Amino acid sequence: MSAAEFVPAGADLDVLRRAADGCRGCHLYANATQTVFSKGPVTARVVLVGEQPGDVEDRRGEPFVGPAGKLLDRALDEAGFDPNETYTTNAVKHFSFRMSGQRRIHQTPTAAEVDACKPWLAAELSLLDPEVVVALGATAGKALLGPSFRVTKSRGAVLPWPPEGEPDPGRHQAASLVPTIHPSAVLRADNRDEAYGGLVHDLRVAARLLA
Ligand code: URA
Ligand code: SF4
Repeated sequence: MSAAEFVPAGADLDVLRRAADGCRGCHLYANATQTVFSKGPVTARVVLVGEQPGDVEDRRGEPFVGPAGKLLDRALDEAGFDPNETYTTNAVKHFSFRMSGQRRIHQTPTAAEVDACKPWLAAELSLLDPEVVVALGATAGKALLGPSFRVTKSRGAVLPWPPEGEPDPGRHQAASLVPTIHPSAVLRADNRDEAYGGLVHDLRVAARLLA
């Protein structure tokens, strides 16, 4: 299972996006509506990596446009990010779900699905030249830093990107990675205000790196 054979060599972002529409690198394409690739300009100074598209994203074909996306937009604004300088993508490009009656219930992608989809993320990161990469939640953190990543342990820290011992994905400048919680975790939290405050706090750590 891998997207590798679907990723065109030497492609720009538009070519990459169109190629991803036809990806059959794992079985997730079969039940989803469409590939959800990314939003934002190739010149972005900040790359935000989520988990996978949700129900709304799957229908609209754009990442982070549902409830978690609205919360994320508000948190990014509060943390001081310029929306024109962010590029938003996901570790996995198709919506994974199970049916409960008529409803589609989000399923966390498996490690094998995340691995299969990694060539897209790697291709994106090699085209972009971010100063800061933000990992939103455990799935993004694992995709970017490996299986030992723990969001509770690393959130709000400034880590070197790419991690030591990993090949440079083709960047042109030194970058940092800041992990934080996923915006959906804020929506699920018992104390939403506290969880939201924590997300904004971590995002401010990332925003200060751009100043
Ligand atoms: N959650 C994600 O991780 N990504 C999206 O695009 C939407 C919700
Ligand atoms: Fe390809 Fe990723 Fe979709 Fe799987 S989830 S089919 S690897 S784009």
